[in-house]
Amino acid sequence: MSLDSEISKRRTFAIVSHPDAGKTTLTEKFLWYGKVIREAGHVRAKANRSYTVSDWMKIEQQRGISVSSSVLNFPFEGCYFNLVDTPGHQDFCEDTYRALTAVDAALVLIDSVNGVERQTIKLMDVCRMRKTPIITFINKMDLDGRDVLELLDEIESVLQIQTSPFTLPIGYGKAFKGVYCIADNTFHTFNKEDGKQEILQMSSADDPKLIELCGEEYVKEFKNRYDVATQAMEPFDREKYLAGKQCPIFFGSAVNNFGVRQLLNTFADIAPPPVPRESNIRLIEPTESKFSAFVFKIQANMDPKHRDRTAFLRICSGSFERGNKVLHCRTGREIRLAAPTSFLAQDKEVIDKAYAGDIVGINDPGLFNIGDTLTEGEKFKFSGIPDFAPEFFARVTLLNPLKSKQLSKGLAQLSEEGATQLFSALSSALPVIGVVGELQFDVLKHRLEAEYGAEVQLDKIPVFGIRWILGEQKSQETFSKEYRGDCMHDKNGNLVCLFPNEYRLNLAVKNYADLEFNNLSPASPL
Ligand code: G4P
Repeated sequence: MSLDSEISKRRTFAIVSHPDAGKTTLTEKFLWYGKVIREAGHVRAKANRSYTVSDWMKIEQQRGISVSSSVLNFPFEGCYFNLVDTPGHQDFCEDTYRALTAVDAALVLIDSVNGVERQTIKLMDVCRMRKTPIITFINKMDLDGRDVLELLDEIESVLQIQTSPFTLPIGYGKAFKGVYCIADNTFHTFNKEDGKQEILQMSSADDPKLIELCGEEYVKEFKNRYDVATQAMEPFDREKYLAGKQCPIFFGSAVNNFGVRQLLNTFADIAPPPVPRESNIRLIEPTESKFSAFVFKIQANMDPKHRDRTAFLRICSGSFERGNKVLHCRTGREIRLAAPTSFLAQDKEVIDKAYAGDIVGINDPGLFNIGDTLTEGEKFKFSGIPDFAPEFFARVTLLNPLKSKQLSKGLAQLSEEGATQLFSALSSALPVIGVVGELQFDVLKHRLEAEYGAEVQLDKIPVFGIRWILGEQKSQETFSKEYRGDCMHDKNGNLVCLFPNEYRLNLAVKNYADLEFNNLSPASPL
């Protein structure tokens, strides 16, 4: 098969949702359709505490949550899907954001009862920034959820994206009858008891058969929505979808495997194959014959028995074969990709060939940083999104002073993975760590102890916000003298200040008009 046709089959995406919206359940159904698992129910059941296939780390298992992104591959209807998982807990980290830099499309999953929730809003900000095309699945239609038009309105106003319903529900909760597909006038019946689904052809949304099947009351309600969707809302426009301005909407129930196939079919049809990527010198087309990729995630110690580190590569152009030599652009070194792996979470599989759009893991002997570019010879660097400002900070005190080497190594390696940011305070020798989600403190503490033997105490620092201080060296020096107690350096030596309250920040901004107070780091990791 030619390079172009291999690449055009790829669909690399992430699921964006708030915890409990049903991401694991939906993923499981996808894997089932992809024939990767034989039985739905294989992935896990929360109640008996066996865990999702993407739960790698011990802490994830202890808590029964997923805190690190993983990658799953599955085939479906001639397409090859790479699903980049985004951690599902309320507290998430930069890793989650970064996962979104590796995908070409996203699926937004919304719980029909709760509507648009906090974590979805945060993740959608990243999608919007990157103009990622979005398809939305409104889940749990078998429960008494919110009014459909109200939900659509909320998506439009809160997520700032135009909606285009592909299906509309008839009834909901206990009286959920199924969904009506607007494009081909079919009615897909929902039957919770025996799980049987029928697809019935209707002449139009006014077909009297609908009333026979669903009852007058529900059809009347549906017709109202149908009229609004077809008359008052803009019709689907693929260009707008691809530009991240309009999102198709589906309704269903993941746990009942209802509406999932329709969703996947449409996804295969309209989601983009690998898209061109910006670099510092030119736009890199996926179908270029030469290989290029960037590292979007590094994970240490996935296998506790072997001290390993895996770098996750998103291939952006061309293909590569096992054993190929590539250029590590940052260091100028030539390296051999000896055993690239694809993932079904724990089940790593060595692969022989991978194409643009694919995500592969390679063994990292400590060579890679997040954002590193690998090519077949040309020197360039993929551009990406800036570091996200951490929101929570803590001082790290080592409880056993003999382990200081292990602590430094652990802090450095874990911050290279990108889940935590490491700072050195100007006024104290104790390292400071910053995280985007508070749960990362627990993860860090646990991993420092489990993987590096360094037991630590973390003392949270109450802060209003962090700012990177940019400007003339001299003004920076004056500033850092006055604010010494609150100032630190980030991993690149940039000056940052932790402001304890808004008043102090405003005062500093006023008194140091020649300095910039940025809430994003000046260094871009990709
Ligand atoms: P997450 O990964 O997004 O956190 O969500 P997950 O799939 O774990 O689903 C959260 C809960 O929502 C689970 O129930 C799951 O069974 C339920 N769920 C998912 N889809 C649907 C749906 O379409 N309808 C209904 N009614 N429920 C749905 P749980 O009680 O937390 O776990 P479990 O005991 O069912 O495994």
